[in-house]
Amino acid sequence: MSSTTGIRVYSSINVHKSLERRRLCRVYTRNLSFGRQCLEKPWFAPELAIEKPRDSRTGFTCRNCVPDAEREDCAVRRKKLAVFVSGGGSNFRSIHEASVGGLVHGDVAVLVTDKPGCGGAEYARANGIPVILFPKTKSSAEGLSSIDLITTLRKFKVDFILLAGYLKLIPAELVQAYPKSILNIHPSLLPAFGGKGFYGLKVHRAVIASGARYSGPTVHFVDENFDTGRTLAQRVVPVLANDTAEELAARVLHEEHQVYVEVVSALCEDRIVWREDGVPLIRSREDPNVYT
Ligand code: GRF
Repeated sequence: MSSTTGIRVYSSINVHKSLERRRLCRVYTRNLSFGRQCLEKPWFAPELAIEKPRDSRTGFTCRNCVPDAEREDCAVRRKKLAVFVSGGGSNFRSIHEASVGGLVHGDVAVLVTDKPGCGGAEYARANGIPVILFPKTKSSAEGLSSIDLITTLRKFKVDFILLAGYLKLIPAELVQAYPKSILNIHPSLLPAFGGKGFYGLKVHRAVIASGARYSGPTVHFVDENFDTGRTLAQRVVPVLANDTAEELAARVLHEEHQVYVEVVSALCEDRIVWREDGVPLIRSREDPNVYT
Protein backbone atom coordinates (compact mmCIF):
# COMPACT_ATOMS: atom_id res chain seq x y z
CA MET A 1 0.00 0.00 0.00
CA SER A 2 2.43 2.63 -1.17
CA SER A 3 -0.30 5.22 -1.41
CA THR A 4 -1.54 4.80 2.13
CA THR A 5 -1.32 8.49 2.79
CA GLY A 6 -3.93 9.00 0.11
CA ILE A 7 -6.23 6.11 0.86
CA ARG A 8 -9.90 6.82 1.11
CA VAL A 9 -12.22 4.02 1.96
CA TYR A 10 -15.82 4.18 0.88
CA SER A 11 -18.60 2.43 2.66
CA SER A 12 -20.32 -0.66 1.41
CA ILE A 13 -23.75 -1.98 0.33
CA ASN A 14 -27.44 -1.17 0.72
CA VAL A 15 -28.72 1.75 -1.15
CA HIS A 16 -32.36 1.00 -0.31
CA LYS A 17 -31.70 1.07 3.42
CA SER A 18 -29.81 4.26 2.90
CA LEU A 19 -32.83 5.78 1.20
CA GLU A 20 -34.91 5.08 4.27
CA ARG A 21 -32.38 6.77 6.48
CA ARG A 22 -31.22 9.71 4.43
CA ARG A 23 -32.48 12.09 7.04
CA LEU A 24 -29.60 10.91 9.16
CA CYS A 25 -26.98 11.95 6.63
CA ARG A 26 -23.84 13.45 7.94
CA VAL A 27 -20.17 13.55 7.35
CA TYR A 28 -17.71 13.03 10.06
CA THR A 29 -14.04 12.45 10.47
CA ARG A 30 -12.44 9.37 11.84
CA ASN A 31 -8.97 7.99 12.13
CA LEU A 32 -8.23 5.24 9.66
CA SER A 33 -5.19 3.12 10.16
CA PHE A 34 -3.72 0.77 7.63
CA GLY A 35 -1.06 -1.39 9.11
CA ARG A 36 1.11 1.01 11.05
CA GLN A 37 -0.19 4.12 9.35
CA CYS A 38 -2.88 6.19 10.97
CA LEU A 39 -4.65 8.62 8.70
CA GLU A 40 -7.02 11.45 9.32
CA LYS A 41 -9.47 11.17 6.44
CA PRO A 42 -13.06 12.13 5.71
CA TRP A 43 -15.33 9.15 6.08
CA PHE A 44 -18.78 9.15 4.57
CA ALA A 45 -21.63 7.75 6.60
CA PRO A 46 -23.72 5.03 4.93
CA GLU A 47 -26.65 7.37 4.47
CA LEU A 48 -24.59 9.36 2.02
CA ALA A 49 -25.05 6.58 -0.48
CA ILE A 50 -27.72 8.56 -2.26
CA GLU A 51 -26.25 11.97 -1.64
CA LYS A 52 -23.76 13.86 -3.71
CA PRO A 53 -20.39 13.96 -2.00
CA ARG A 54 -20.08 17.11 0.01
CA ASP A 55 -16.39 17.36 -0.73
CA SER A 56 -16.32 17.97 -4.47
CA ARG A 57 -12.64 16.98 -4.58
CA THR A 58 -13.52 13.34 -3.83
CA GLY A 59 -15.75 13.06 -6.90
CA PHE A 60 -17.26 9.70 -6.00
CA THR A 61 -20.63 8.26 -5.30
CA CYS A 62 -20.73 6.22 -2.16
CA ARG A 63 -23.01 3.22 -2.63
CA ASN A 64 -22.69 0.95 0.31
CA CYS A 65 -23.23 0.81 4.03
CA VAL A 66 -20.90 0.69 6.97
CA PRO A 67 -22.38 0.61 10.45
CA ASP A 68 -21.42 3.48 12.67
CA ALA A 69 -20.36 2.07 16.00
CA GLU A 70 -20.90 5.45 17.57
CA ARG A 71 -24.52 5.60 16.50
CA GLU A 72 -27.05 3.68 18.50
CA ASP A 73 -29.77 3.70 15.84
CA CYS A 74 -27.63 1.87 13.27
CA ALA A 75 -28.46 -1.76 14.00
CA VAL A 76 -27.23 -3.94 11.15
CA ARG A 77 -30.11 -5.62 9.37
CA ARG A 78 -29.92 -9.39 8.97
CA LYS A 79 -29.19 -10.15 5.33
CA LYS A 80 -30.76 -12.54 2.86
CA LEU A 81 -28.41 -14.69 0.83
CA ALA A 82 -28.76 -16.63 -2.41
CA VAL A 83 -26.18 -19.38 -2.84
CA PHE A 84 -25.40 -20.77 -6.30
CA VAL A 85 -23.99 -24.32 -6.56
CA SER A 86 -23.41 -26.96 -9.21
CA GLY A 87 -21.85 -29.70 -7.09
CA GLY A 88 -21.49 -31.20 -3.66
CA GLY A 89 -22.02 -27.88 -1.94
CA SER A 90 -19.62 -28.21 1.01
CA ASN A 91 -19.03 -24.43 1.00
CA PHE A 92 -22.80 -23.85 0.90
CA ARG A 93 -23.16 -26.20 3.85
CA SER A 94 -20.51 -24.42 5.90
CA ILE A 95 -22.16 -21.05 5.21
CA HIS A 96 -25.59 -22.40 6.07
CA GLU A 97 -24.29 -23.94 9.29
CA ALA A 98 -22.59 -20.66 10.20
CA SER A 99 -25.87 -18.85 9.59
CA VAL A 100 -27.89 -21.26 11.69
CA GLY A 101 -25.19 -21.28 14.36
CA GLY A 102 -25.11 -17.48 14.60
CA LEU A 103 -21.67 -16.82 13.07
CA VAL A 104 -23.21 -15.20 10.01
CA HIS A 105 -25.73 -12.38 10.41
CA GLY A 106 -27.82 -13.57 7.47
CA ASP A 107 -29.98 -16.39 6.19
CA VAL A 108 -29.81 -18.50 3.06
CA ALA A 109 -33.10 -17.54 1.43
CA VAL A 110 -32.71 -19.56 -1.75
CA LEU A 111 -30.40 -22.01 -3.50
CA VAL A 112 -29.80 -21.61 -7.23
CA THR A 113 -28.40 -24.45 -9.28
CA ASP A 114 -27.97 -25.67 -12.84
CA LYS A 115 -27.88 -29.27 -11.54
CA PRO A 116 -31.10 -30.05 -9.66
CA GLY A 117 -29.77 -33.42 -8.50
CA CYS A 118 -26.47 -32.14 -7.10
CA GLY A 119 -25.49 -32.56 -3.46
CA GLY A 120 -25.97 -28.87 -2.76
CA ALA A 121 -29.56 -28.94 -4.04
CA GLU A 122 -30.34 -32.05 -2.00
CA TYR A 123 -28.93 -30.40 1.12
CA ALA A 124 -31.08 -27.32 0.46
CA ARG A 125 -34.27 -29.36 0.12
CA ALA A 126 -33.43 -31.32 3.26
CA ASN A 127 -33.10 -28.02 5.12
CA GLY A 128 -36.25 -26.38 3.79
CA ILE A 129 -34.40 -23.97 1.50
CA PRO A 130 -36.16 -23.28 -1.82
CA VAL A 131 -34.25 -24.50 -4.90
CA ILE A 132 -34.33 -22.60 -8.19
CA LEU A 133 -33.08 -23.98 -11.46
CA PHE A 134 -30.95 -21.62 -13.54
CA PRO A 135 -30.33 -21.28 -16.42
CA LYS A 136 -33.04 -22.57 -18.70
CA THR A 137 -31.63 -25.25 -21.01
CA LYS A 138 -33.01 -27.69 -23.57
CA SER A 139 -32.84 -30.49 -21.02
CA SER A 140 -34.27 -28.39 -18.18
CA ALA A 141 -37.03 -26.27 -19.61
CA GLU A 142 -38.21 -25.35 -16.12
CA GLY A 143 -35.00 -23.36 -15.61
CA LEU A 144 -35.39 -19.59 -15.32
CA SER A 145 -34.24 -16.96 -17.78
CA SER A 146 -31.86 -14.27 -16.48
CA ILE A 147 -34.67 -11.74 -16.16
CA ASP A 148 -36.93 -14.20 -14.34
CA LEU A 149 -34.06 -15.11 -12.03
CA ILE A 150 -33.53 -11.46 -11.11
CA THR A 151 -37.26 -11.03 -10.49
CA THR A 152 -37.28 -14.12 -8.30
CA LEU A 153 -34.22 -13.04 -6.31
CA ARG A 154 -35.91 -9.69 -5.75
CA LYS A 155 -39.03 -11.49 -4.51
CA PHE A 156 -36.87 -13.33 -2.00
CA LYS A 157 -35.39 -9.92 -1.07
CA VAL A 158 -31.90 -11.26 -1.68
CA ASP A 159 -29.12 -8.87 -0.60
CA PHE A 160 -26.10 -10.90 -1.63
CA ILE A 161 -25.31 -13.72 -4.03
CA LEU A 162 -22.65 -16.25 -3.11
CA LEU A 163 -21.24 -18.50 -5.81
CA ALA A 164 -20.00 -21.71 -4.28
CA GLY A 165 -18.92 -24.08 -7.00
CA TYR A 166 -21.41 -22.78 -9.57
CA LEU A 167 -19.89 -23.54 -12.95
CA LYS A 168 -21.92 -21.35 -15.31
CA LEU A 169 -20.91 -17.82 -16.23
CA ILE A 170 -23.03 -15.23 -14.42
CA PRO A 171 -24.95 -13.20 -17.01
CA ALA A 172 -24.20 -9.49 -17.29
CA GLU A 173 -27.79 -8.60 -16.36
CA LEU A 174 -27.39 -10.29 -13.00
CA VAL A 175 -23.99 -8.68 -12.36
CA GLN A 176 -25.56 -5.29 -13.10
CA ALA A 177 -28.64 -6.01 -10.99
CA TYR A 178 -26.45 -6.84 -7.97
CA PRO A 179 -23.46 -4.47 -8.12
CA LYS A 180 -20.73 -5.17 -5.56
CA SER A 181 -22.99 -7.85 -4.13
CA ILE A 182 -21.90 -11.10 -5.80
CA LEU A 183 -19.00 -13.15 -4.42
CA ASN A 184 -17.28 -16.27 -5.70
CA ILE A 185 -14.75 -18.62 -4.15
CA HIS A 186 -12.02 -20.05 -6.34
CA PRO A 187 -9.54 -22.74 -5.25
CA SER A 188 -6.32 -20.98 -6.29
CA LEU A 189 -4.51 -17.77 -5.52
CA LEU A 190 -5.99 -15.58 -8.25
CA PRO A 191 -5.05 -14.20 -10.68
CA ALA A 192 -3.04 -17.43 -11.09
CA PHE A 193 -4.83 -20.55 -12.31
CA GLY A 194 -8.18 -18.89 -12.92
CA GLY A 195 -10.45 -18.31 -15.89
CA LYS A 196 -12.51 -20.50 -18.15
CA GLY A 197 -11.63 -24.17 -17.82
CA PHE A 198 -9.92 -23.77 -14.44
CA TYR A 199 -12.27 -25.61 -12.12
CA GLY A 200 -12.14 -28.63 -9.83
CA LEU A 201 -9.06 -30.82 -9.93
CA LYS A 202 -7.87 -29.12 -13.12
CA VAL A 203 -6.87 -26.14 -10.98
CA HIS A 204 -4.87 -28.20 -8.53
CA ARG A 205 -3.20 -30.27 -11.27
CA ALA A 206 -2.09 -27.05 -12.96
CA VAL A 207 -0.77 -25.65 -9.67
CA ILE A 208 1.26 -28.79 -8.98
CA ALA A 209 2.57 -28.98 -12.56
CA SER A 210 3.67 -25.34 -12.42
CA GLY A 211 5.95 -25.96 -9.46
CA ALA A 212 4.19 -23.35 -7.35
CA ARG A 213 5.00 -23.88 -3.66
CA TYR A 214 1.88 -22.19 -2.38
CA SER A 215 -1.77 -22.27 -3.28
CA GLY A 216 -5.02 -21.45 -1.53
CA PRO A 217 -8.52 -20.09 -2.00
CA THR A 218 -9.48 -16.64 -3.22
CA VAL A 219 -12.81 -14.95 -2.46
CA HIS A 220 -13.53 -12.27 -5.02
CA PHE A 221 -16.32 -10.07 -6.30
CA VAL A 222 -17.89 -11.26 -9.51
CA ASP A 223 -17.84 -9.39 -12.79
CA GLU A 224 -18.90 -10.48 -16.27
CA ASN A 225 -15.90 -12.81 -16.75
CA PHE A 226 -14.67 -15.96 -15.05
CA ASP A 227 -12.51 -15.21 -11.97
CA THR A 228 -11.49 -11.65 -12.87
CA GLY A 229 -13.39 -9.60 -10.27
CA ARG A 230 -11.63 -7.81 -7.42
CA THR A 231 -10.02 -10.01 -4.79
CA LEU A 232 -11.47 -9.67 -1.30
CA ALA A 233 -9.70 -12.38 0.70
CA GLN A 234 -7.14 -15.14 0.28
CA ARG A 235 -5.64 -17.91 2.38
CA VAL A 236 -2.35 -19.65 1.71
CA VAL A 237 -1.61 -23.36 1.97
CA PRO A 238 1.66 -25.09 1.09
CA VAL A 239 1.97 -27.28 -1.99
CA LEU A 240 3.91 -30.30 -0.76
CA ALA A 241 6.50 -32.16 -2.81
CA ASN A 242 4.45 -35.35 -3.02
CA ASP A 243 1.01 -33.79 -3.27
CA THR A 244 -1.62 -35.33 -5.50
CA ALA A 245 -4.26 -32.99 -6.90
CA GLU A 246 -6.76 -34.61 -4.52
CA GLU A 247 -4.58 -33.98 -1.47
CA LEU A 248 -3.97 -30.37 -2.42
CA ALA A 249 -7.70 -29.91 -3.16
CA ALA A 250 -8.59 -31.19 0.32
CA ARG A 251 -6.09 -28.85 1.99
CA VAL A 252 -7.42 -25.88 0.00
CA LEU A 253 -11.07 -26.84 0.59
CA HIS A 254 -10.51 -26.89 4.33
CA GLU A 255 -9.35 -23.26 4.10
CA GLU A 256 -12.22 -22.39 1.77
CA HIS A 257 -14.74 -23.30 4.43
CA GLN A 258 -13.04 -21.00 6.95
CA VAL A 259 -12.40 -18.02 4.71
CA TYR A 260 -15.77 -17.99 2.97
CA VAL A 261 -17.60 -17.97 6.30
CA GLU A 262 -15.37 -15.16 7.57
CA VAL A 263 -15.99 -13.11 4.45
CA VAL A 264 -19.75 -13.70 4.42
CA SER A 265 -19.83 -12.78 8.08
CA ALA A 266 -18.13 -9.47 7.25
CA LEU A 267 -20.43 -8.93 4.28
CA CYS A 268 -23.56 -9.43 6.36
CA GLU A 269 -22.24 -7.05 9.04
CA ASP A 270 -21.57 -4.34 6.42
CA ARG A 271 -17.83 -4.55 7.11
CA ILE A 272 -16.73 -4.48 3.46
CA VAL A 273 -15.31 -1.13 2.44
CA TRP A 274 -13.93 0.07 -0.87
CA ARG A 275 -10.54 1.69 -1.20
CA GLU A 276 -10.48 4.58 -3.64
CA ASP A 277 -8.65 2.49 -6.25
CA GLY A 278 -11.54 -0.01 -6.24
CA VAL A 279 -9.99 -2.66 -4.02
CA PRO A 280 -12.42 -4.09 -1.44
CA LEU A 281 -11.21 -4.44 2.14
CA ILE A 282 -12.61 -6.15 5.21
CA ARG A 283 -12.88 -4.09 8.35
CA SER A 284 -12.06 -5.97 11.52
CA ARG A 285 -14.98 -6.46 13.89
CA GLU A 286 -12.69 -6.30 16.90
CA ASP A 287 -10.76 -3.21 15.83
CA PRO A 288 -12.59 -0.92 13.36
CA ASN A 289 -9.28 0.74 12.50
CA VAL A 290 -7.82 -2.46 11.07
CA TYR A 291 -8.48 -3.60 7.51
CA THR A 292 -7.37 -6.72 5.64
C1 GRF B 1 -14.61 -25.28 -4.48
O1 GRF B 1 -13.32 -25.78 -4.61
C2 GRF B 1 -14.65 -23.85 -4.92
O2 GRF B 1 -13.46 -23.18 -4.71
C3 GRF B 1 -14.93 -23.96 -6.38
O3 GRF B 1 -15.79 -25.06 -6.52
C4 GRF B 1 -15.58 -25.94 -5.43
C5 GRF B 1 -16.91 -26.16 -4.80
O4 GRF B 1 -16.83 -27.15 -3.80
N1 GRF B 1 -15.49 -22.76 -6.92
P1 GRF B 1 -18.11 -27.45 -2.93
O5 GRF B 1 -19.24 -27.80 -3.89
O6 GRF B 1 -18.41 -26.24 -2.13
O7 GRF B 1 -17.71 -28.62 -2.08
